[in-house]
Amino acid sequence: MALKKLVAGNWKMHGLSSDLDEVRVIAAAAKDYPGVDVALCVPAILIERAARAVPGFAIGGQDVHHAEKGPHTGCTSARMLLDAGASLTIVGHSERRDAQRESDVEVKAKTQSALSVGLNVILCVGESLEARERGAALDTVSAQLDGSLPDTVDDKAELAIAYEPIWAIGTGKIPTIDEIRDMHAAIRARLRDRYAVAGAGVRILYGGSVKASNAAEIFAIADVDGALVGGASLKAADFIPIVAAAS
Ligand code: 13P
Repeated sequence: MALKKLVAGNWKMHGLSSDLDEVRVIAAAAKDYPGVDVALCVPAILIERAARAVPGFAIGGQDVHHAEKGPHTGCTSARMLLDAGASLTIVGHSERRDAQRESDVEVKAKTQSALSVGLNVILCVGESLEARERGAALDTVSAQLDGSLPDTVDDKAELAIAYEPIWAIGTGKIPTIDEIRDMHAAIRARLRDRYAVAGAGVRILYGGSVKASNAAEIFAIADVDGALVGGASLKAADFIPIVAAAS
């Protein structure tokens, strides 16, 4: 059975208070597509204002600290995200795995912390160009899943996996249909192994240069249950056609 698609925007380090109008436009337009779950993951400092601006629409964070609280200067806990009005968070994005040297162990701890307070989680995995070229894409992603998936999937919060090949992020390049299908099938098999029946309900998103022009083709692939969208999520005019393609 097909899962309800999730189209989530990752605003990365973009967005000021003046962009809250764009959040409002996106949230209002998303109401026309009740068959799709739509979310925007905005910079931490915008979460509270965005959540207040669009009650009922899913606003998320882009990262979370694994600890409940403590001496972690500059970090945000899961409960803080929730308290600010977030209903989900991204964890393990490749830009953090690279720049902040986040390990699978840390990504797993962040995921478990977020799920434990009831936040939904989009856990990112994806191979480098070097790994893809030497034929190690599946092994790389399998190892990331083995290291970063939570021990259990709590039924009060939801887990989604975003497959984002690093070389497709912000480059305009995307894998072939077959490459996406094979990777999503492998991720699904891993999820079933790990969580049995519950593994069939975990959504697997594709991310990396998703645009209105390629979205329909990507959403038609088996086990693609949505998208994590970067650049094309910043403006309603680019993002809403992607939501429409998912509906
Ligand atoms: P782009 O859609 O800009 O390629 O970014 C993808 C991404 O990293 C989403 O998390």
